[in-house]
Amino acid sequence: VKIAFIGVGKIGQTIAYSVIFDGLASEVILYDIIPELPEKFEHELRHAMATRGLSTEVIGTNSLDDVANADIILIMAGKPRKPGMSRRDLFVDNAKIQIDLAKQLPPKNPGALYIMVANPVDMMASIFMRFSKQFTISTGDTVETMRMRSYISKKLKVPVTKVTGYVAGEHGEDAVVLWSTVKVNGKPFEEIAKGLTKEEVENYVKSIPGEIIRVMGGTTWGPATIIKDIVRSVVLNEGRVMSIATPRTYQGEIIHISVPTVVGAEIGPSLEGVLPESDRERLNKSVEDFYKVYKENLDHLLQVI
Ligand code: NAD
Ligand code: MLT
Repeated sequence: VKIAFIGVGKIGQTIAYSVIFDGLASEVILYDIIPELPEKFEHELRHAMATRGLSTEVIGTNSLDDVANADIILIMAGKPRKPGMSRRDLFVDNAKIQIDLAKQLPPKNPGALYIMVANPVDMMASIFMRFSKQFTISTGDTVETMRMRSYISKKLKVPVTKVTGYVAGEHGEDAVVLWSTVKVNGKPFEEIAKGLTKEEVENYVKSIPGEIIRVMGGTTWGPATIIKDIVRSVVLNEGRVMSIATPRTYQGEIIHISVPTVVGAEIGPSLEGVLPESDRERLNKSVEDFYKVYKENLDHLLQVI
């Protein structure tokens, strides 16, 4: 399997490392616009691979021409937010990058699966798909889902494997915890919460990335491992249910909203239809809100490009 990494800054490097060390790729292409960065990162990876006897073919390049015949293309190219910013503030700057990539990547990479990572990730997936006409998924709320599970596990002192459930909607401030799906030791959250409130869990999920960015300059290990698991589920056809965002058409526009979805060699089906009415109503509201913000940003973008 040939996997390309477009943008090898903080998050791109960590995902590439995780993918290679999980043995998921036979060939890896690392691309960035910063001179020498992909090439020097290639050396770093080779040194790490030497100690593990890994023979994955890795090339680091500043030429987009080298990104050819990839099966999976992950896009991390874009600005990260600074403390105090919303991911949505990155829309115009990062959309311009996606439009450029959307024109350049498809001709040399027929049939590739595109996985958007750059923020605002769901909107960037929609932009990339609009301009490339290629099937694109967003890493969406896979990250929120694991943040939710890890927090409940820590607070209730139960192994994380005993916490199940999903977060859906938009990646970011508008994410929706699907409380009907959240179980601890197989019991509904309400029965076992011991004073831990839903509000506290939701606040944690939404605020922790900003706190990590404030102190560590960016989120890396958490999202990278989770995103690597999306790749893993595709490459190994694991069929894991993950809260990725897949494309849907709403009011004539392609938009991306996270819903628990089967991830394997094929993407889907989503489990939206089996969610109870209460969760589906919140998701529908999320779709409406997302569309409104996306459309405003898109209209503005179309005027400035
Ligand atoms: P970073 O600044 O460390 O890395 C971004 C890289 O993109 C840089 O190396 C830059 O040179 C490169 N780049 C810019 N334009 C490019 C282009 N046209 N082609 C190729 N490369 C290009 O930032 P980061 O912390 O790695 O974050 C990157 C993006 O990923 C941000 O938008 C961030 O918000 C997002 N992110 C998303 C998640 C998620 O869960 N989806 C998690 C972490 C970061
Ligand atoms: C995350 O959730 O870790 C990423 O979207 C980065 C960010 O918070 O800006």
